[in-house]
Amino acid sequence: MATVTIRHVTKTFGENTVLREFDAVFGDGEFVTLLGPSGCGKTTMLRMIAGFEKPSTGEIYLDDTLVSGGKTFVPPEKRGVGMVFQSYAVWPHMNVFDNVAYPLKIQKRSREAIRTAVEKVLEAVHLSRYADRLPNQLSGGQQQRVALARALVAEPKLLLLDEPLSNLDAKLRESMRFEIKEIQRRTGITVVYVTHDQTEAMAMSDRIFLINRGEVQQEGSPADIYNRPNSPFVADFLGKVDFFSGEVRQGEIVFPDMGGQSLPYSGDRTGKVRVAVRPENFILCDDGPMEGILETWYYLGDVNDCRVRVGQTIIRVIAGGFLYGTLRVGEKVRLRARDIMVFPDEGALEEILSIQT
Ligand SMILES: Nc1ncnc2c1ncn2[C@@H]1O[C@H](COP(=O)(O)OP(=O)(O)OP(=O)(O)O)[C@@H](O)[C@H]1O
Ligand SMILES: [Mg+2]
Repeated sequence: MATVTIRHVTKTFGENTVLREFDAVFGDGEFVTLLGPSGCGKTTMLRMIAGFEKPSTGEIYLDDTLVSGGKTFVPPEKRGVGMVFQSYAVWPHMNVFDNVAYPLKIQKRSREAIRTAVEKVLEAVHLSRYADRLPNQLSGGQQQRVALARALVAEPKLLLLDEPLSNLDAKLRESMRFEIKEIQRRTGITVVYVTHDQTEAMAMSDRIFLINRGEVQQEGSPADIYNRPNSPFVADFLGKVDFFSGEVRQGEIVFPDMGGQSLPYSGDRTGKVRVAVRPENFILCDDGPMEGILETWYYLGDVNDCRVRVGQTIIRVIAGGFLYGTLRVGEKVRLRARDIMVFPDEGALEEILSIQT
């Protein structure tokens, strides 16, 4: 069993508050991702869980044991946690096999047990052929996989991964996502994963914590935070979205910048609102409530990426690739929208969407 409980953790470096009142429980066997822009405090949180950094205030528990807080501090080597660092240090003088075997040698496992475990894990990260190579004979991505194998080989109950796929090309990245998920499913370990890549977070996580400016903006399943973001920032960070100013009237939202055209609305907001719509949620259809002119479209194979002018507003519409051949620039089209997200019209949008750097 491995749960992580983080209570009111705040971390400051000098004047700089990097994380504020972080509160979370990561469940046993859960795959949790800390997602957020560069500099938002993801690595710092991971290092505090591992014991390489102390919280300024607050407590961290692994299972029921207090490991950081008050006068208590359990050093990293006593926490039984596996970690892959963002900088994936591997030992340059050891070949791949010995790098990966190292944690088991420390545990004084038998030669045979070590060989079996190392071979298994090297196979999982597609490095069996490279067992005898030194790190300087490997690419960055291969070295990163050595670090991943080394963290996995001792089958820790809690695995902390800090952007472990950042150096891999797109194809390998996808297959490694799957491998990491598989390893997690097979072993039932708890994984805390750090990335700034929203697709990776969506694909892998049971639960995502989206962090910005040192605070958790929203936590939830990938579908929750993608479809029901609690703020324009979250809507914008996960996937593509466009914002439109509107006003709620009986049963609809009217858009002044779209020549007063409207979309049906049955929610509880009133008055001026900011409406967010993902481009795949605008649908070209003959009976849509809005009318516009197709300005451009790009055929991308699986989809058509279109721009439709409605009044003074250009709307991005991602339509099915199968519409190829039916789209004519300059022609009238009708649109409807599904899953619109409606927020209060507060604050300057640029300010709300800005990230901490
Ligand atoms: N030891 C340190 N001393 C002072 N400031 C630090 C220290 N470690 C981190 N910081 C600062 O804390 C903030 C958060 O850093 P952190 O490495 O946790 O960000 P991150 O979310 O992992 O970013 P990235 O995606 O770029 O890796 C940054 O502003 C960083 O400069
Ligand atoms: Mg980092």
